[in-house]
Amino acid sequence: MSNYHIKQLEEYFQVYRKSVNNPESFWEEIAEEHFVWRKKWDQVLEWDFSKPEVKWFKNAKLNITENCLDRHLPTRGDKTALLFEPNNPKEEAQHISYRKLHEKVCQMANVLKDHGIKKGDRVCIYLPMIPELAFAVLACARIGAVHSVVFAGFSATALSTRINDCDCKMVITADGSYRGAKTLNLKSIVDVALEDCPEVKSVLVAQRTGEKIDMVEGRDHWLKPLLDKAYSDCTAEVMDAEDPLFILYTSGSTGKPKGMVHTCAGYMVYTAYTFKNIFQYREEDVYWCTADIGWITGHSYIVYGPLANGATTVMFEGVPSYPDYGRFWEVVQKHKVNQFYTAPTAIRALAKEQLEHVEKYDLSSLKVLGTVGEPINEEAWHWYNNNIGKKKSPIVDTWWQTETGGIMISPIPYVTPTTPTYATLPFIGIQPALMDEKSNEIQGNQVEGRLCIKFPWPSMARTIWGNHERYRDTYFAAYENKYFTGDGALRDAVGYYRITGRVDDVIIVSGHNLGTAPIEDSINEHPAVAESAIVGFPHDIKGNALYGFVILKEVGQSRDRDNLRKEINQQITEQIGPIAKLDKIQFVPGLPKTRSGKIMRRILRKIAGKDAKNLGDISTLLNPEVVKEIKDNAL
Ligand code: WTA
Repeated sequence: MSNYHIKQLEEYFQVYRKSVNNPESFWEEIAEEHFVWRKKWDQVLEWDFSKPEVKWFKNAKLNITENCLDRHLPTRGDKTALLFEPNNPKEEAQHISYRKLHEKVCQMANVLKDHGIKKGDRVCIYLPMIPELAFAVLACARIGAVHSVVFAGFSATALSTRINDCDCKMVITADGSYRGAKTLNLKSIVDVALEDCPEVKSVLVAQRTGEKIDMVEGRDHWLKPLLDKAYSDCTAEVMDAEDPLFILYTSGSTGKPKGMVHTCAGYMVYTAYTFKNIFQYREEDVYWCTADIGWITGHSYIVYGPLANGATTVMFEGVPSYPDYGRFWEVVQKHKVNQFYTAPTAIRALAKEQLEHVEKYDLSSLKVLGTVGEPINEEAWHWYNNNIGKKKSPIVDTWWQTETGGIMISPIPYVTPTTPTYATLPFIGIQPALMDEKSNEIQGNQVEGRLCIKFPWPSMARTIWGNHERYRDTYFAAYENKYFTGDGALRDAVGYYRITGRVDDVIIVSGHNLGTAPIEDSINEHPAVAESAIVGFPHDIKGNALYGFVILKEVGQSRDRDNLRKEINQQITEQIGPIAKLDKIQFVPGLPKTRSGKIMRRILRKIAGKDAKNLGDISTLLNPEVVKEIKDNAL
């Protein structure tokens, strides 16, 4: 029992040692004592990173929604499960109890069944942060359908790619969404996307903004009347531990997005256990993660982790700047939030504004602050610590990934002493390794290398949907018998980890992972463009912003440059989404290339980052002369 909730550093080390020395008995105990199973496992773990194949709790049977909902009904039926805070502060918040949530999820599950959705079918969810999003996710899990949530800021093209990649039969969406003072017509985006998705047979539409939309006869259905007449009870489907629970797409450095597949049992156990410890959640607490459920942070730490612990989890529809920059703190005061989890980009944006936006509010309820998504810079860390935590609430800088399912390296608040910019120690059961250029593990402290994990953990993604080979090549080919994260990290004198950033061509902009290749593909489709290369450069708020180097075709040479820039960004917005727009576009006569034809992004990164004094040896390039030209005309 004591292992479940760690309260002291000595205890952390003890439990950590146990989890590493005897992982199977460790996780078995956690799984046995804290979850309900329809049938127990035959074996705790079976794994082989060379295939790669990982199975946790082999042959166990369960349904994650029974763990997130049903089992809380006798003791927490009236407790608020979801606390919905709308975009507009004048609209009332909704306190949805465990009983109510159970009812809503069952109703939604019955609606899905009525529309022919069965265990194993894929359902695409393209919804704003409204309660229906949580209902839909859990309803899929209830009947064993695999949800694929697509962030409702993605474009029609990005949406149709994701729908087709995993053959979704159904899309659940809304008429529109609110974002601050703006509304976005989501349904019209779905309509465009579905022109390319012949397999989608039905679309369920939640009503949110009330704007005019088109409904396609026979395909589109308003959700509310269906929910209202659906039964409020639905037997949970019995799932195998390793049945897929959901697919979530993440950007790769090349090619199309990767549909990471997470499975039922291990994901449940690990997200629940990390949630409990990393946020030190207690029964009466109100927990708020500001992420969107469209990202892994929302899946694991708005929905599954908190609900598996019977927690009250806030779901926020709005943005930090609306109606003004005090909104987060107004919400913290209003709901007496105890744990607050956000991204460095939001912290930097708020730190730039007047402190009165913070000082107006009573933040004394806060006990734990969290950050996730990218390295937090020291200045932002101190602003967060001083002004929000008042130097009393520890900051948990949590490092993890869509692929890892749950938090991997993080302090445990009030247990692990924190250091700005350090994610500190591996969580229980996590065995990190730093690798050198020669693929050897670097031993000892005060070292830096590429971050790998050398032993399986329960919530790791099991494959990439429809492409196991890509899964192996991306994560298990670089280092034998290890999962490669794509990040660099250093380990300091006391063994704390600091994540230094991506070592591949993924750029994190405002906490969103963007692969360079899809953006370049989109730019290159513009009729005036011959070739392009994207790099990141440091940006005060976004962390990184995108800088594009673009070679024009002959037809483009005479065109107005500013118009071209607008058109290029318009094209990116349509094909990927506004998050991938470029901050700077420089038209160049050529791109620096190696003799094998590879673009030397290192040089472009330095130029974009205004750090072009020492570019290193460029004499081996195919075309060293273009470097000066690019440098002299840098933006
Ligand atoms: C980065 C988000 C530094 C990292 C949960 C990782 C971080 C990528 C941190 C995954 C952190 C995430 N410190 N870097 N605390 N957290 N990252 O898949 O580069 O959206 O590989 O998952 O974000 O982003 P993803």
